Amino acid sequence: MTERSFVAIKPDGVERKLTGEIIKRIEQKGFKMVAMKFIKPSQELAEEHYGEHKEKPFYKGLVEFITSGPVVAMVWEGKDVIATIRKMVGVTDPLKSDPGTIRGDFGISIGRNIIHASDKLESAKKEISLWFSQDELVEYTPTLDKWIY
Ligand code: PPS
Repeated sequence: MTERSFVAIKPDGVERKLTGEIIKRIEQKGFKMVAMKFIKPSQELAEEHYGEHKEKPFYKGLVEFITSGPVVAMVWEGKDVIATIRKMVGVTDPLKSDPGTIRGDFGISIGRNIIHASDKLESAKKEISLWFSQDELVEYTPTLDKWIY
């Protein structure tokens, strides 16, 4: 069964011009892009997105950070895409992320950790519908096997 994951390149990732590198890694892994937009998140969107962390000490700073500049919001589809992209991203703290992961290769600080990716199916569904309308999710079937031999 294929599933979908919500991925966002955060303002620090955009500023550091890591957008192409991150998309390249996910594309080359073999996943299919279903939606993408360049957006400066509103306060309301950010608060809803991080709502489950409302009581955490870092919540206010996290919302301030994600609304501070443009974000590349995406939806990716494929088998086990949620767990696989999380693995490619690394853990929350870049210092603890293995080399070869996005945060392990490019991140320095926990408050500037470059990328968000859904952690489970339930959050992926919630995040996708929060960031994208139904008609922004592009349905298509790659036809590569019809013309590459
Ligand atoms: S928790 O407490 O285990 O639920 O937190 P975690 O899943 O690791 O992180 C939830 C999101 O909060 C971000 N985060 C932080 N931001 C700033 N400062 C600190 N100290 C901090 N700790 C966690 C973390 O990157 C997660 O955001 P996303 O966008 O999902 O990466």
